[in-house]
Amino acid sequence: MISIRDVSKTYGGGVKAVDGITLAIRSGEIFGFLGPNGAGKTTTIKMVTGILHPDTGTILVDGHDIVKDPIAAKKAFGFVPDDPNLFPRLKGIEYLNFIGDLYGVDAAVRRDRIASLAARFGLEKALPDRIQSYSHGMRQKLILLGALLHEPPVWILDEPMTGLDPRSAFEMKEMMRQHADKGHTVFFSTHVLDVAEKVCDRVAVIDKGRILFCGSIAEMRAHFADGTTSLEEMFLEMTGETNGNGASPFAANGAN
Ligand SMILES: Nc1ncnc2c1ncn2[C@@H]1O[C@H](COP(=O)(O)OP(=O)(O)OP(=O)(O)O)[C@@H](O)[C@H]1O
Ligand SMILES: [Mg+2]
Repeated sequence: MISIRDVSKTYGGGVKAVDGITLAIRSGEIFGFLGPNGAGKTTTIKMVTGILHPDTGTILVDGHDIVKDPIAAKKAFGFVPDDPNLFPRLKGIEYLNFIGDLYGVDAAVRRDRIASLAARFGLEKALPDRIQSYSHGMRQKLILLGALLHEPPVWILDEPMTGLDPRSAFEMKEMMRQHADKGHTVFFSTHVLDVAEKVCDRVAVIDKGRILFCGSIAEMRAHFADGTTSLEEMFLEMTGETNGNGASPFAANGAN
């Protein structure tokens, strides 16, 4: 699980990207993080993964404080960033072996995991090639393979579907479901509302650094007395992008 409590972050230029958010992402659930461009999703994810330190608040990953006990916290999660740029001169297999060494994955176990993950994403043939020859989607898949190599209980994925072909996106969704069903945690951001609606047990909507809603899609629907049912319509209404009135029917209620 992931616990985010009263977390804020202001960037150097004075932009308050995350403004006092509290979220609890439980074991056994797929949790979607939604919000318009610039809402604070990536900033939150960077704090959860220890890339940025929060100005205030605490974050626990599988019970480990990411600031006070970063190694234990980092062992507990696999992370796929939104930007799949990595060591272009390494071959795919060299990158995976490097990650395997970092996380102390035994050589024989590693070989099996790489073989089955690469087969699942159709990346076997590309592994002997240099990363600089990979397409965007192939890089994305390679990072995903690396992130899952140590079989972390918590998956943290920043827009994981971007650039994936339909079959790989399908595999990704299947894997997320299987992972959560084993009692593990999947926390991912996305702009693809169809995916969020289909795969998420719960979602949070963030805008201007604040949580507008946290709960299941059914709970979100219950807020709309006017019969609005599509996630797209609810999202647009909530984030003030329809009719220009900008009013949100939600009080900030990020907890639990
Ligand atoms: N390195 C940075 N320095 C200064 N401001 C930043 C930096 N990174 C992000 N911001 C600002 O912080 C706010 C939140 O950005 P963030 O990247 O977290 O949004 P996001 O929800 O991930 O958006 P997107 O959907 O476009 O990926 C924005 O106002 C952005 O301009
Ligand atoms: Mg982002």
